[in-house]
Amino acid sequence: MNEKIQRVGVIGAGQMGAGIAEVCARAHVDVLVYEQTRDLAAAGRSRILRSLDRGVSSGKITEREREQAAWRLRFTSDLGDFADRQLVVEAVLEDEKVKTSIFAELDKVVTDPSAVLASNTSSIPIMKIAVATNNPERVVGMHFFNPVPVLPLVELVTTLKTSGAVTERAEKFAAEVLGKEIVRSSDRSGFVVNALLVPYLLSAIRMVESGFATKEDVDKAMVLGCAHPMGPLALTDLVGLDTVKSIADSMYGEFKEPLYSAPPLLMRMVEAGLLGKKSGTGFYQYNKA
Ligand code: 3HC
Repeated sequence: MNEKIQRVGVIGAGQMGAGIAEVCARAHVDVLVYEQTRDLAAAGRSRILRSLDRGVSSGKITEREREQAAWRLRFTSDLGDFADRQLVVEAVLEDEKVKTSIFAELDKVVTDPSAVLASNTSSIPIMKIAVATNNPERVVGMHFFNPVPVLPLVELVTTLKTSGAVTERAEKFAAEVLGKEIVRSSDRSGFVVNALLVPYLLSAIRMVESGFATKEDVDKAMVLGCAHPMGPLALTDLVGLDTVKSIADSMYGEFKEPLYSAPPLLMRMVEAGLLGKKSGTGFYQYNKA
């Protein structure tokens, strides 16, 4: 029943979904990825192939490993195809309604009672998603970090209802198969990392918004003064301004803490479609991903 996980499903092939699918395929696991349309699936596949190419050019994987990983990836637009999956990781946009409807459907489709149904949500409490299923004991949070092939952490979030066996199965897979480091978190909006990171990103945006310092100087200050690999505005661009806003909204909804409220500049940029690296423009300009 509780066999080794060899068949994984990933819902969504955006930044995070593609990264999760890639690390699973690189870890010799059969991966089925759901996207709504053929075009989105094709975009997801090229995102993964570009990242695998980068892995080859930086000497992290061989040509052969790249080919084999690419072979292990299949795409579908039918959630019904997930019946035989032992672990499904949902990585769609931060929208509670969309996530709950996916989990309600997955719960009906995935037949293995010991299967793990995981959400990569950045901030939505997992219980809100778990209660959309008839088997909340198999729902857990597995929160990966961007870029997924590079950052070694997975936050494992258990709810009041997650079973010990499911938690153990998810942890074992992330640690032993994917080679990730695990931290455990209780089920509060933002979990550990975003509860600390997002107020910092919002504070940096407020500094720029108020004219207190330029975006370049804010970023330079944190890179050179605190040895961060990138500054908070560049990091906001990497994560996606829409995602940062969704996390802030979710944390504000839970705690009503002013530090978590999205500053107007962030809201206006999201409304304008300036979403960061993925849209080509955010605080900085990029070649569109
Ligand atoms: N596959 C394998 N390895 C890869 C790779 C890929 N696709 N892409 C890059 N790498 C490796 C490189 O080979 C390099 O390895 P090395 O240090 O051993 O040589 C390393 O990753 C760094 O890559 P680069 O040298 O190409 O790029 P940079 O040095 O400019 O680093 C960065 C880029 C990894 C993005 C770095 O700036 C960084 O870590 N930034 C912080 C990112 C961060 O904080 N992410 C968390 C965001 S929060 C989140 O995701 C949660 C969500 O809920 C919001």
